[in-house]
Amino acid sequence: MGTASADTALARLEHVTLSYGGPRPALDDVTLDVGEGEWLCVLGANGSGKSTLAGILSGLVAPDAGRVRLAGRDVFGEGGVDRQGYREARRSLGLVFQNPDDQIVTTVVADDVAFGPENLGLPAEEITRRVRRELRRVALDGLADADPTRLSGGQKQRLAIAGTLAMEPSLIVLDEPGALLDVRGRRSIMHVIERLHDAGRTIVHITHFMEEALGADRVVVLERGRVALEGTPGEVFSHGGEIRSFGLDEPFAARACDALEGRGVEVRWTCDPDDLADQLCGTGAGL
Ligand SMILES: Nc1ncnc2c1ncn2[C@@H]1O[C@H](COP(=O)(O)OP(=O)(O)OP(=O)(O)O)[C@@H](O)[C@H]1O
Ligand SMILES: [Mg+2]
Repeated sequence: MGTASADTALARLEHVTLSYGGPRPALDDVTLDVGEGEWLCVLGANGSGKSTLAGILSGLVAPDAGRVRLAGRDVFGEGGVDRQGYREARRSLGLVFQNPDDQIVTTVVADDVAFGPENLGLPAEEITRRVRRELRRVALDGLADADPTRLSGGQKQRLAIAGTLAMEPSLIVLDEPGALLDVRGRRSIMHVIERLHDAGRTIVHITHFMEEALGADRVVVLERGRVALEGTPGEVFSHGGEIRSFGLDEPFAARACDALEGRGVEVRWTCDPDDLADQLCGTGAGL
């Protein structure tokens, strides 16, 4: 896990540019790898290009220029779009949208998870097995017969994730899955992401909640369509001034470190709240 190497990249973008015809491109010369088993978190202010990147990584959109390799296939390059390559790659790629209502298509929870595998033409026993497994994974196994419209926002989003996972994608892209949820709903999504990561799944998680990036292997910050910062959460969040200049907040622990330092309390900088708590409760801080 961690940094992607040439052999294990599930997705590779090289000098990718995409414009919708506006004054500047939505993505501008983006080069990025997603390694197998990696949890990559993408941060950026409104309009920085996150959803456009999600569309490219999930094979739904091709760029104007650059090279794109997805699920082991070169799908876009100098020769333009490889339609067959895109069709094949898309079978291994899953996208979860910001609004689960865009993704829920049936009137029974279990049917919704079965919808994708049914379209793949899988045998009935295999579909049943996948539905059970994914509902359990997202803690909705008690609600298999429920009406999706009656679920809470967090439950709906977990249902959308289960439906995507039932297709067994090798890469799952989540585009701000917690944006419409309350704190509890967001926490339940983070539990699912953490468990997927522990199970070795490859995840691209787009969020504008900085705290949600702390557990990721790697963080990329987009600013006006360009990769402005990239590294481990600690590396990226140590650039506090830049983070703020991009219209983003620093994580709580990083802000607290700055505030403590301003009051003459000696703490080692960290963006990890547990580390900060250990320092303050232990002998590390000059309190
Ligand atoms: N279909 C479209 N047509 C025209 N312009 C678009 C389209 N989709 C996105 N854009 C523009 O491209 C830029 C990047 O948009 P994108 O949706 O990728 O950003 P984002 O980081 O996902 O934003 P948000 O935080 O609001 O979800 C923005 O300037 C946006 O206005
Ligand atoms: Mg978006």
